[in-house]
Amino acid sequence: MAKLWAGRTTGETDRIADDFNSSLQFDCRMYRQDITGSMAHAAMLGAQGILTEAEAEQLIDGLQDILDGLDAGTLVFDPNCEDIHMFVEQVLTERLGDVGKKLHTARSRNDQVALDLRMYLRDEIAEISTLTRGLIVALNAQAEAHKADILPGYTHMQRAQPITFGHHLLAYAMMLLRDLDRLADCRRRMNVSPIGCCALAGTTYDTDRVFEARRLGFDSVAQNSLDGVSDRDFCIELLSALSVLMMHLSRLSEELILWSSWEFGFVELNDAYTTGSSIMPQKKNPDMAELCRGKTGRVYGDLMALLTVMKGLPLAYNKDMQEDKESVFDGCDTVKQCLRVFTPMIQTMQTRPERMRRAAQEGFINATDLADYLVRKGLPFRSAYKISGQLVSECIQRGCVLETLPLEVYRQHSALIEADVFAAIDLQRCVDSRNSLGGTSVRSVEAQIAFVKKSLEEMES
Ligand code: ARG
Repeated sequence: MAKLWAGRTTGETDRIADDFNSSLQFDCRMYRQDITGSMAHAAMLGAQGILTEAEAEQLIDGLQDILDGLDAGTLVFDPNCEDIHMFVEQVLTERLGDVGKKLHTARSRNDQVALDLRMYLRDEIAEISTLTRGLIVALNAQAEAHKADILPGYTHMQRAQPITFGHHLLAYAMMLLRDLDRLADCRRRMNVSPIGCCALAGTTYDTDRVFEARRLGFDSVAQNSLDGVSDRDFCIELLSALSVLMMHLSRLSEELILWSSWEFGFVELNDAYTTGSSIMPQKKNPDMAELCRGKTGRVYGDLMALLTVMKGLPLAYNKDMQEDKESVFDGCDTVKQCLRVFTPMIQTMQTRPERMRRAAQEGFINATDLADYLVRKGLPFRSAYKISGQLVSECIQRGCVLETLPLEVYRQHSALIEADVFAAIDLQRCVDSRNSLGGTSVRSVEAQIAFVKKSLEEMES
């Protein structure tokens, strides 16, 4: 098939080489951005007198017809076209004749593809941000419902100190708030228009890049034409923000998987988000959480792939850069899929507060509080820590817990200990008294819930 770029070469390209070269199969998803960008370009050409107003109008109408046809499914992509840009220009030229051939004046596919991708990813960021907000709202609601449920907090996967389930969930809400912020930040740098940079050096025509940028909702224009067509840092930044987001989802997935095991039994995921085993009838597998954890590797892979594609490229455009799209599209698709399943999984998750509390009653989780009690009685912390440790060891020998250790035994280790020790190591008290800013007490958790709500509102405006 004759190529739009046939001119210097006359020989036909090889079929296999054509397929290898073509990006239509994956860049066709940017057709709306490509056509909208071309409309702005045609309008600019008309406004600047580079084309007549009548020609510009004809082009814009022709582009609108193509958009309508693709939306309606009456126009289908021609697999023989090299990419979405060539496809649109080819259809336009078939329909409008010579006028169609004028659209590419003062433009190159190099600035065109950079434009399309920035516009496409802007929209993806908006969608991913909305989905992330949904998950934050779901976590905040569960935190509210479980702000007083006590469970063990762990360090090194060892029971450490009692915390509330609300407090634990809010840690993830805070992480996701930063993910939202990273996405907004990434969008800010992405929203710079490359159109008008042309192939690499700018153009001899009297174009108006600001006119085009404004029409397309960009905040500013790329100030160096080589940079405008050469860099894909905006894709890499997005994939990096998405990788961090996935890392957060993956850690929460890991906890959900642990918490829903028989050993923990802290939560039960809704049947809608679990599967059974084909052989073991008792199983209820947390497949969705496992897949989110697994797909994190994919998104990291997308990031690494693109970083590697870009690292050795001389300026300006090189065909290697066509590889950007599959990576960044896959990253966005994967994150959206995960968030779509994650939010309802959190919303429908049932908790087992009695199991959480029982786990918190074992494992000497209040040993720090016992030490703090001795500090209040006048001992330096390090000495109090030591006595508290000896009392834990005493309990282990006797097969009891701090709550059931007789007062006489306490007093053998320190005469400072009195009957009020039992109130001091009571789980509820341990939690309630951790009232420091950001701490685990119910009051503090309520403040954190309010903080999350306020942050979401502020980010919206
Ligand atoms: N399909 C190409 C890409 O995705 C479009 C840009 C092609 N430019 C060129 N000079 N061959 O990168």
